[in-house]
Formats: sequence, structure tokens, C-alpha cells
Amino acid sequence: MARKKASVSRRDFFKTVGAGSVAAAVVTAGGEAQGQGPSVSGPGEVAVTLLINGQRHQLKVEPRVTLLDAMRTRLDITGMKRVCDRGSCGACTVIIDGRTYYSCSLLAIESQGRNIRTVEGLAPGSALHPVQQAYCDHDGLMCGFCTPGFVMSTVALLEKTPNPTPEQAKRALDGNICRCGTNIGVLAATLKTKGVTRG
Ligand code: FES
Ligand code: FES
Repeated sequence: MARKKASVSRRDFFKTVGAGSVAAAVVTAGGEAQGQGPSVSGPGEVAVTLLINGQRHQLKVEPRVTLLDAMRTRLDITGMKRVCDRGSCGACTVIIDGRTYYSCSLLAIESQGRNIRTVEGLAPGSALHPVQQAYCDHDGLMCGFCTPGFVMSTVALLEKTPNPTPEQAKRALDGNICRCGTNIGVLAATLKTKGVTRG
């Protein structure tokens, strides 16, 4: 579903919600329907199954472990970077069920049963996805630390809106920060990429 113009941006959302939602998610509502109150997972490790880039991964993590840390430290999926670790920079952006999320602000346990996509899954082998190629062509990266997150935000936008206006592109990327100042190149790459199909 395309983001409505008046909707709250990811940055606005995290300003108001903060880390509270992460902590609360360890208590799940499973038992409430049977009148037993909420069920609690943990604090020890629990079995978790994650569907990442079309591959099913089974692992055991404590419920407090974020999706980002589960991917990076347990599954060796390291494209997403941990920079702020508090939902403000976008370096850890993934696409889940077609929408962008900060993986540092989601728990692995609550990411089960969802279609998670990371930068590693965009193109096979050494091939580049059209968005990655456009970032190279338009100088959309310097140190590259923010780049996987920016690329995922761009991909999510273009899969829904293949020909975005500059305003649509800026809004889609407003949850990502580049400290090297590549924003002009990133915007050019986003506006000039062609050939992105729904992932
Ligand atoms: S590391 Fe997740 S938003 Fe910065
Ligand atoms: S390219 Fe260095 S932070 Fe963006």
C-alpha cells in the first residue's frame, strides 16, 4: 500500500514511540484469547524461525534480541549496519512485507512469519540490482556505511512508485541519514533508476 502523503514518516514515528515498543513486544497476547492473560517468552533463548531473502533460518535467541543483531551476529547476514541502534539513522533498513523497517527497532521474535528482505537478496552473485547500479552511476555513496539502508528504502519506493516525484523520493528517504553528504547523488539515483519490478 502506497504511503499516503499525510501519513507519519518513519522518523516521526520513532520520535514518538521510542524504545518502549521493543521492550513490550516480549509479552505476547497468545494466552489472552483463552482467558489466561498474556504469555511471556524468555528471558532465556527461544526458538525463532525467520524468512530472510526467501530462505528459512531457524535459530535460538533471547526474546530481547533485535532482528538486526539476530541477522548480523547469528546468521552472518551483515549488509544492514548497526549505527545508532535506536531508530534514527536508517542504516539498518530492511523491507518486510513490502514496507521499510528499522531492523534495530524490531525484535527477531516478532519478525517471524514475515517476508524479510535485505540488501543481500536484491541480486544474485556479483550482479547489481538496478538501484545499486544507479547509486554507483550517480555517486550515491562514499564510505558506504549508510548505503545498504538507503538502497532498501529506494527499492521499496520504486517497487510501488516506479516514477516518483522529487517530493515522493525525499519523503521515502527521510528516514535515512548520510553523514558523508551523498544525498544529492542518492536522490539523483532514486529519480533515474528504471526497471525496478516488484520484489
Ligand atoms: S541502526 Fe537502526 S536506525 Fe540506526
Ligand atoms: S556514504 Fe558515508 S555515511 Fe553515507
